[in-house]
Amino acid sequence: MRERIVVIDDESNIVWLFREIFGDAYEVLGAETAEDGLQAVWDQEVHLVMLDLRLPGMNGLQALEKLKLQGYQGPVIIMTAYGEVKTAVQAMKFGAYDYITKPFDIEELKHVVQGALRYSRLTSEVTRLRRELEEKFHLKNIITVSPKMIELFSVIERVSTSDVCVLIQGESGTGKEIVAKAIHYASARKDKPFVPVNCAALPEHLLESELFGYEAGAFSGARKTKPGKFELARGGTVFLDEVGELPLPMQPKILRVLEENQIDRLGGTKRLPIDVRVVAATNKDLREEVRKGRFRQDLYFRLAVFPITIPPLRERKEDIPVLAKHFLKEFAEERKATPLTIDDEAMDSLLSYPWPGNVRELKNIMQQLCLLCDGPVVRKQDLPAFFSNSQWSSHDNNLPEGCAEGMPGINPEELLEGESGLGLTELKKRAWARVEKQLICDALKRFEGNRTLTAEYLGVSRRTLYTKLREYGIE
Ligand SMILES: Nc1ncnc2c1ncn2[C@@H]1O[C@H](COP(=O)(O)OP(=O)(O)OP(=O)(O)O)[C@@H](O)[C@H]1O
Ligand SMILES: [Mg+2]
Repeated sequence: MRERIVVIDDESNIVWLFREIFGDAYEVLGAETAEDGLQAVWDQEVHLVMLDLRLPGMNGLQALEKLKLQGYQGPVIIMTAYGEVKTAVQAMKFGAYDYITKPFDIEELKHVVQGALRYSRLTSEVTRLRRELEEKFHLKNIITVSPKMIELFSVIERVSTSDVCVLIQGESGTGKEIVAKAIHYASARKDKPFVPVNCAALPEHLLESELFGYEAGAFSGARKTKPGKFELARGGTVFLDEVGELPLPMQPKILRVLEENQIDRLGGTKRLPIDVRVVAATNKDLREEVRKGRFRQDLYFRLAVFPITIPPLRERKEDIPVLAKHFLKEFAEERKATPLTIDDEAMDSLLSYPWPGNVRELKNIMQQLCLLCDGPVVRKQDLPAFFSNSQWSSHDNNLPEGCAEGMPGINPEELLEGESGLGLTELKKRAWARVEKQLICDALKRFEGNRTLTAEYLGVSRRTLYTKLREYGIE
């Protein structure tokens, strides 16, 4: 479709001129009065409006206001006689894109018109992408049939519309980030940026400049002023991911920002007001971190105005089949293929596996199956070898309800290691650590020691993998 320009001018030779110059490339519609012009913009999609200031009846400035009121978001260029430049400048304050004086310099006219159309293309592209993001991260795209999750979402939906701080807790891969995005895109801030900050990824001094920005000359190397994430998110949402990793000295600084809604750029002399909503996530038990003195209580209370916990996948097994189906369909669509299906025996294996990497791990496995599976149906033997591990294979279906958590084969005596009275919580922790260690070792073997592939496969960051390797003394 050709782009459309509406020229509102009572001098017919102006419209004629536009047709002469632009008629080949664009569709040019003329209107002799503001009223006719507004009607034309209302009736069809218009990419640029050229507006004369002096018109019979409604004048240009009034027409500009009406254009905005009737929802036109494209550029408006004011055409003005030499003596009226002041009014044209005023029009720009009311949202006109630019102005040009009559009589026209043809080259200048071409330049301004083409620039405005480029701007119009970009803004409609931004609007389209925004709509797409909004659609993509809508709560409805978070797949679940679990009553616990559905209840959680009804709460999230309500909290999205307010500005309260939300703290999302959950194991790695449970979906904390997509929930954070869904909160943002369901809020009134959805047209403003969603800015994620990974608090674990940067050392303390870099994190500070990343969050608060710096002025030129704040330190050697700071040649230009750089805005921080809190500034970049203006009007939107800052997502403090892995907030449990926030270095202690940074914590009072974040608290201050949240309390005062102002930031100090490094090396800056005045405080800058900010308008952001903060959503934070962690896979740690933050209250426990507070108890251990690793996280400030005041910041915890400030962040956890509204705490939510996403249950791990093994506690909502009913989600495994629907998520598996969803991912198989998604990957098949990408490859323009028919989605794989999963036979009963393979599904039993998926259901009894403990999924330490949660939904991310399930997603990765489904992606592998799409690439590696020979037939249209996934059978048990198509699953990675560790699914056949008798430790959590289907015999746990015979166990009483609640015992089928993928932990069989672990002997409590062995876990106690001579200490007695450890209690279930500690025993569980130790048992879990064993399973985790085993999974990591298996994966490392599978990828011949390649850490990147192993981390990717397990659905954790390389940093997490390294921490785990250290924790379990794996070389
Ligand atoms: N309920 C769900 N429906 C659809 N996709 C999901 C769901 N939960 C998680 N996912 C997908 O699983 C992957 C992991 O989710 P996400 O990154 O949100 O997890 P996370 O909790 O932030 O993990 P981490 O703690 O490792 O950062 C993403 O690709 C996400 O889109
Ligand atoms: Mg995450």
